[in-house]
Amino acid sequence: KDAPKKSIYKNIQIADTLKAQSKAKKQRLDKSQRPQPKFKNLQIAEPQKTESRGAQSEKAQENQSQRENTRDNRTHNPLAARQNKLLQVRQQLPIWPEATNIRNALLENHVLILAGETGSGKSTQVPQFLETSVWCTGRIAVTQPRRVAAVSLARRVADEMGTPLGKSPQSLVGYNVRFDDNVGKNNRIKFLTEGMLLQEMLRDPALTEYSCVVVDEVHERSVNVDLLLGFLRGLVTGTSEAVKKRKGKPLKVVVMSATADTEKLKDFFGEGFEQVPAKGSITTFGDEPTSSTKDETLVDKSQELSTSASGKISTCFVEGRMYPVQTEYLSEPTRDFSEAALLQIFQIHRKEPMPGDILVFLTGQDVVTDLQQAIEDMIPNVITRDSGLPKLVVLPLFAALPQAQQQAIFAPAPPNTRKVILATNIAETSITVPGVRFVVDSGKAKVKQFRVGLGLDSLLVKDISKSSAIQRQGRAGREAAGKCFRLYTKSNFEALEKDAIPEILRCDLSSAVLTMKARGIQDVMNFPLLTRPTREAMERALLHLLQLDTLKPEDGDISDLGRKIARLPLTPALGRTIIAAANPEMGCLLPVIDIVACFSVENIFLEVKDQDANDEAREARKALFRRQGDHLTLLTAVQAYASERTDRKAWAQKHLVSHRAMQSVMDVRKQLRAQCQQAKLLSPSDLANAEDDLDTISESTADNILKCFLRGFPSNVARPIPDGSYRTIEGHVAVAIHPSSVLYGRKLEAILYNEFVYTNRTYARGVSAVQMNWLEEIYAAPA
Ligand code: CDP
Repeated sequence: KDAPKKSIYKNIQIADTLKAQSKAKKQRLDKSQRPQPKFKNLQIAEPQKTESRGAQSEKAQENQSQRENTRDNRTHNPLAARQNKLLQVRQQLPIWPEATNIRNALLENHVLILAGETGSGKSTQVPQFLETSVWCTGRIAVTQPRRVAAVSLARRVADEMGTPLGKSPQSLVGYNVRFDDNVGKNNRIKFLTEGMLLQEMLRDPALTEYSCVVVDEVHERSVNVDLLLGFLRGLVTGTSEAVKKRKGKPLKVVVMSATADTEKLKDFFGEGFEQVPAKGSITTFGDEPTSSTKDETLVDKSQELSTSASGKISTCFVEGRMYPVQTEYLSEPTRDFSEAALLQIFQIHRKEPMPGDILVFLTGQDVVTDLQQAIEDMIPNVITRDSGLPKLVVLPLFAALPQAQQQAIFAPAPPNTRKVILATNIAETSITVPGVRFVVDSGKAKVKQFRVGLGLDSLLVKDISKSSAIQRQGRAGREAAGKCFRLYTKSNFEALEKDAIPEILRCDLSSAVLTMKARGIQDVMNFPLLTRPTREAMERALLHLLQLDTLKPEDGDISDLGRKIARLPLTPALGRTIIAAANPEMGCLLPVIDIVACFSVENIFLEVKDQDANDEAREARKALFRRQGDHLTLLTAVQAYASERTDRKAWAQKHLVSHRAMQSVMDVRKQLRAQCQQAKLLSPSDLANAEDDLDTISESTADNILKCFLRGFPSNVARPIPDGSYRTIEGHVAVAIHPSSVLYGRKLEAILYNEFVYTNRTYARGVSAVQMNWLEEIYAAPA
């Protein structure tokens, strides 16, 4: 229980001393005398290997210095000065001394499992270490769970390597995230989201363009990372059919995690190697984690493996660098963490003598934007000319925020200004925001959770896990001593779950199962997964996919339509909607894309409180409302915004619409149009004719649009019961129309909804009026 204290409140001087001691000790001991890992008996092939390792290492070093010479020539450019400056910073990172070990580990092993605390330098340095390795003739893919991290890391690594970023012929580093591909043909390192690498595997299941895949932030355990690990295990062990396409070129895999779940990962890959006849070893280097970071419960299992494993896995532990963080709790629990955060932020700004930015962890976009407004409203009262206080600048950070604004958080604050970053858990481990000395932690996060009764995922605000709380706290001590203010009590903290539940156990598996099917996995029930979901959850996903026509009913194999959907960066339900809309009989793909683009942001409409909207604005916004419901209302808003050519910001303000959300919607809309064109669902002439002029949508087109959504979401229908409330047609769960809906308070024959939200009751959000006979009609229609 005291574990967090040990690792987080580590005094830097003590840490440095320990490090120096351990380094000296390492130098004293030659390799054979080094402390051996617990899994000694795993080093089956060690004696012969020592020699070959030496020889190979020499070759690697030779090759490496050749490449570095080339690199030196390449760096005589204006970026070189920055590169040199950054080199000094890099050399101070805890991972720097492990460079040779890491390179050598992958000379003979296929898999390296690397656990290191956030900030040790894993994400930025490991790809660069590997890039100069002898075996690394192809590209290196580095996956991230989040777009913002992929982009900011790519930028940082390009800077560190002294080359431009992206498509330029000189660039060695690029990135590829959904709706933004910035990869050049000479890129050696490519940062991409897990989803994008899975997409690439549709084209090239053997990942032939890569020599190495670095899977970063595995501890976040998104469904995509679990799938990716399953596919990579097949490629690296050779148990996957696709491996033949690599023509004997090995693929190396580095799995990186902020927490020490190495045992589980080692088991996972080890079991894969057991299925192949090759002999190999598991070796360990680096300091073993302290007991505070090691998961004791997994030890027995790995020892079991040790007797039979024949894998080629290496593990490495890198200690993080952490300045002391003083942590404060509330004495009483709060009912409103936003309000508590508001008070805390101003308290820090007024009372804390030390400089430094404030990072606030909140739940979702809505809470972030509300709090931003509240802070900005309060600033003039607190920071007066006589107060002598520095200025405050508020920066939001959430997944749906347009790229450029996400990147704004990385710029240093202007002189005499303190940054306040209001973030969702996106800032927990993936990204480093320089300058942060104060963390305010709400203790909550929004998580996706499958509700069996409702048959779909919904977003719920939940308590975070202890390990999340520790990660959040650690963000305050990255550059200097810091402070963390937890907006909950100490006993609340003690009662938190140790770790978060992996997403694969929480959410709808339709996308995951379609992903597997599209990549040729017939027997999805036995696909290797780090954590196995229940059979029931898998079966439910298969049924859902059958209902969407993405699988063939006769053999459960993927259908042509399923393949098309798998290529779209959307859930199967939204993909099915798009396909239905592309049918010439429906002929409403462009408007459907506009609506789908709106679903990529939380809400395009600003939440208005009575006092801050004038009647004119309310009327202007009301003019966008459509009697059919929210889908058509979103469409009207997008079309009106798109046809505005002079001042879109002013238009948004006038209509109480979020300009920021709309920018994002337009971005997604453009990308979706391009993807539909690629998928031959849209022709270039369709696009050329798609003027951004305000079209009136005819009644029949409006009906068709809703029918297409019904095709994608046939279960998301509710009907009224005599008391006026609604019940879902599947599961008979009580739902109410969300107050944000244009249909709020209306009684209709049937409603179709996009999602559920929970506050004090179950609400359907994104609601439109539909007719029950449409359900029969859409099933009768061809795909
Ligand atoms: O992956 P890990 O958390 O171990 O560390 P990292 O992301 O490689 O970050 C190492 C260091 O690089 C950080 O402490 C920052 O000083 C710097 N960095 C940065 O300035 N900007 C980024 N976008 C990423 C890292």
